[in-house]
Amino acid sequence: MTLPLWYQDAVFYELNVRAFYDGNGDGMGDLPGLLTKLDYLQTLGVDCLWLLPIYPSPLKDDGYDIADYYNIHPDYGTLDDFKALVQAVHTRGMRIITDLVLNHTSDRHPWFQAARADKNSHYRQYYVWSDSGAEYAQARIIFSDLETSNWKWDEQAGQYYWHRFYAHQPDLNYDHPAVQEEMLNVARFWLNLGVDGFRVDAPTYLFEREGTSCESLPETHAYLKRMRRVMDAEFPGRIFLAETNQPPRELRQYFAEGDEFHLAFHFPLMPRLFLALAKEEAAPLRDILAETPPIPANCQWATFLRNHDELTLEMVTDEERRLLWQQYAPDPRMILNLGIRRRLAPLLDNNQRKIKLAHSLLFTLPGAPVLYYGDEIGMGENLNLPDRNGVRTPMQWDATETAGFSAAAPYAPCPAGDYAPARVNVAAQINQPDSLFSFIQHALAIRKKHRAFGRGNLRWLNTPNPAVAAFWRQTPAEKLLLLHNLSGQSQTLDLPATARGAAHDLLTGHWLPISAALTLAPYQFLWLTLED
Ligand code: NOJ
Repeated sequence: MTLPLWYQDAVFYELNVRAFYDGNGDGMGDLPGLLTKLDYLQTLGVDCLWLLPIYPSPLKDDGYDIADYYNIHPDYGTLDDFKALVQAVHTRGMRIITDLVLNHTSDRHPWFQAARADKNSHYRQYYVWSDSGAEYAQARIIFSDLETSNWKWDEQAGQYYWHRFYAHQPDLNYDHPAVQEEMLNVARFWLNLGVDGFRVDAPTYLFEREGTSCESLPETHAYLKRMRRVMDAEFPGRIFLAETNQPPRELRQYFAEGDEFHLAFHFPLMPRLFLALAKEEAAPLRDILAETPPIPANCQWATFLRNHDELTLEMVTDEERRLLWQQYAPDPRMILNLGIRRRLAPLLDNNQRKIKLAHSLLFTLPGAPVLYYGDEIGMGENLNLPDRNGVRTPMQWDATETAGFSAAAPYAPCPAGDYAPARVNVAAQINQPDSLFSFIQHALAIRKKHRAFGRGNLRWLNTPNPAVAAFWRQTPAEKLLLLHNLSGQSQTLDLPATARGAAHDLLTGHWLPISAALTLAPYQFLWLTLED
């Protein structure tokens, strides 16, 4: 049975088609390759796939620079391959969302080519132009390591054009009605092909207004709501997930009255998971969740540990950022923009207990967890690759030199040393009960049985031990007690009378007597239900 609001309980899995599995032996992952790995994803227990951009593109920003919104990049296959994939995903009872890049196109897009070539072209107004490049000076530069301005002089056009990301990604002009219509049609096209919704790239920056930061403007929200209305009216049940890196109160606006986004990534929570582990304190988690306003009943947070970008540290204070850099980026090559371009396992010193603890927090705190491909087996990064490519290396299926990813040499080299395919791969973990893969698979299966994880409210236990994150998740039907020792030492916890008694340990299936004081081993966590 399909539950309404399925996304509130769902576990998402983010993957790059290029990196997942090569079906035709050219060294690059593709849609037919991914199709043969759906059993793996189903075995892991994920509910919804999120594919990074798969459209024709010069790939200067790994596909976030789109040259044609209505096709598939030839490296990945064809529209027929995509249809077959969607069908196979649905046959398995899973879902699939794709990336919808609204804010900008590639400078190779025919719209931009026409716009720059002729001032009188109908496409000129599809982009944002200036004679001086002086407007909107209050808008920050996002790719601060790589760009120095949001304006770029275009020789051919004889004007500057506006871009919030790379200079090769001109921003679309949402003040132009034709752009608004075009992008509604792009959404319709993919929804007609059966996708279950979109992860919307950078929806924060659609409009520009003088004297503002050009972020989260009322006009931007109005357009996003309009797109949501189209989805609800023409494709009911599809979802809209916002990638908007903003503080909690601003993020909250993207849910509006439950009529804008269904989900939004909780960007401020993510770095605080790492901060909590670095400081061995629950306070950063408690503080940020206390700062997080309630959201409408039909919405959900999307939570994550890592994704395909750098671990962004925009949502922390300067002091916290220094601490996080110090702890998690010992080599200067690891720093990119305001973040850290590393994978989860190396960030957590390849300490399996810490990695499992981080996943436990992800699975038990409010939100729909979004996993990043390869983190379920503890893949590492390759820092020799530029920009964010080091965290986008081939999925490591087995111990062979090409990681079982391709019959040919892969498009990018896997990490070496402790994280080489010989040390980290699916084949070695999938039937191994102690592996990270098996832990995640088991934890997801347990999570699925308890709706309180997706829908319960959150209440912290007032315990005097600052190193333990202890909280309740509760629905009218059930009450779960979650305990996490964030430190590398044993911690004793005084439990209130309401948390004592015979407890069922959900992860082991054993009964535990819980008395006033409970000792947790280093990085230990417990998922408990208490007997009345
Ligand atoms: C956010 C995406 O996650 C990132 O990978 C991309 O570079 C920018 N948006 C620009 O599209």
